Amino acid sequence: MFPSVDGRLAILAVLPASFVVITALKRFIRNRQNKLPPGPVPLPLLGNVFSVDTKAPWLTYTEWAAAYGDLFFVRLLGQEVVVINSQHVAEALLDKRSRIYSDRPYLATVDPFGWSVVFAFTGYGDEWRLCRRLFHQTFRPDSSLKFRPMQINQARRMIANLIDDPQHYHSHFATFSSSVAMSVTYGYQTNHRDDPLVRIAENALAIGLAALTPERAALLKAFPFLLRLPDWCWGSSIKRDARTSTNHMREMTDVPFRHAQDHMVSMVSDNLHRMEKINQASRLIFETALKKAAVSAIVGSYETTTSTLMTFALAMVLYPDVQRHAQAEIDSVVGRDRLPTFEDRTSLPYIESVLRETLRWQPVAPLGVPHVTTSDDTYDGYFIPKGTIVMCNVWGISRDEKRYPEASRFMPERFLDVNGGLTDDNPAGYVFGFGRRACPGRYAADASLWSAVVTMLATVEFSSAKDDQGKVIEFTPQFTTGITWYLVFLYHSIFPSLIVSSL
Ligand code: HEM
Repeated sequence: MFPSVDGRLAILAVLPASFVVITALKRFIRNRQNKLPPGPVPLPLLGNVFSVDTKAPWLTYTEWAAAYGDLFFVRLLGQEVVVINSQHVAEALLDKRSRIYSDRPYLATVDPFGWSVVFAFTGYGDEWRLCRRLFHQTFRPDSSLKFRPMQINQARRMIANLIDDPQHYHSHFATFSSSVAMSVTYGYQTNHRDDPLVRIAENALAIGLAALTPERAALLKAFPFLLRLPDWCWGSSIKRDARTSTNHMREMTDVPFRHAQDHMVSMVSDNLHRMEKINQASRLIFETALKKAAVSAIVGSYETTTSTLMTFALAMVLYPDVQRHAQAEIDSVVGRDRLPTFEDRTSLPYIESVLRETLRWQPVAPLGVPHVTTSDDTYDGYFIPKGTIVMCNVWGISRDEKRYPEASRFMPERFLDVNGGLTDDNPAGYVFGFGRRACPGRYAADASLWSAVVTMLATVEFSSAKDDQGKVIEFTPQFTTGITWYLVFLYHSIFPSLIVSSL
């Protein structure tokens, strides 16, 4: 005997509900049998989501770390999350057990907004492996050495722009950041100013970074039908934004790629030559991965490098003694007759300590980029279930008072020993992430930042802007947060009243 239509509908309605109940029950039993890491008590269904500072979640996590330790567990709505608060635990899990800690969480806005071309969001699998391999061939430490003369040249061009048009320092930092990546990946030389490709990247990132906020992702995850609403309908703005973003991302992927096809010597053109030798079926896979690897270099560099340079500029204004000390080191080692080059780097330990302190003081990714476990794990007696999001609280590590006394102050000397030599503590060991997903652009980033910082210190001075009466215009630095995934943010810094003057 078959059930009636109403009966079948009732069965259909009950099925998903029972699935949710069974999953929750299974999870409850599993978690009771296994000891989860400690953490704040969650509310039913909502978890701990309302206790987290949504603008700066790392601040909440740093407070919780003081109560629950280096590894704690939170539930954000239905999602299980583990937060790591020490470099030691991050290395033990994300580095040493990278086989099961290297996936990325699902983010509902990535595909609709055209961001799946960025392999930082690709799941842990064969496609990611190919993208990463192609990227690594160009950006690994020994290959990155080749870019240094170009990085120094781009830094000098940036100085010319800064001196010529000091007000728009943010735009010059951004041009510098993208010009290095565009030159390496596509063999493209940016214009000094108003470069069309830099503008394409700017447009694509502006809309994408705003779209990939946790709120938007949560909205789309809960109501996927929003993407199918007709354009005239209330609530369809997310769909229209997604379309615009996808178009911008496509433009950013395809336009410089076409440029590289016609030019020699770049990551893209070198690999296109290699591609000629492989069969037709593999060629499409290879070309897609190559496009992703290339555009990821632009996306990966742009915001991170620019924000770090903004942080440096802010530090120089707020800590003029540091600026003077750094300039004095350059004067005594390099002199005033020439500009610094990479050959001077080892003789400039104070500059190195300024760079380390810039990375530590305001880390651009205070919660890194989240990983996800691909199987159950046990660490230090605690159970970490499969599918748990794992975040590293970089902010908490960088503000650890035991490791960094007076951590909120900008103090480069903390990285120098009594003889003025560098200590073994380098924030690059945690700000670039961990394990198989650790930032593959970090060697290029380090050299770009060093070139820019040392060249600026040798040529210009940052100070507060003054009003007509010569009084300093007070300002409060603002950090806007956005991007990536659930409660993970990259800083974008805005400091309205700095002035840059040539030395
Ligand atoms: C100050 C500069 C930079 C910082 C602080 C930074 C930081 C990071 C962090 C924290 C991650 C995630 C690591 C993890 O999941 O554990 C990451 C990933 C990534 N970064 Fe960077 N980055 C910087 C510059 C760059 C540059 C210059 C490039 C390109 C040349 C780049 C390309 C990438 C890519 C492609 C990924 C994704 C890796 C993957 O998912 O496998 N980054 N970066």
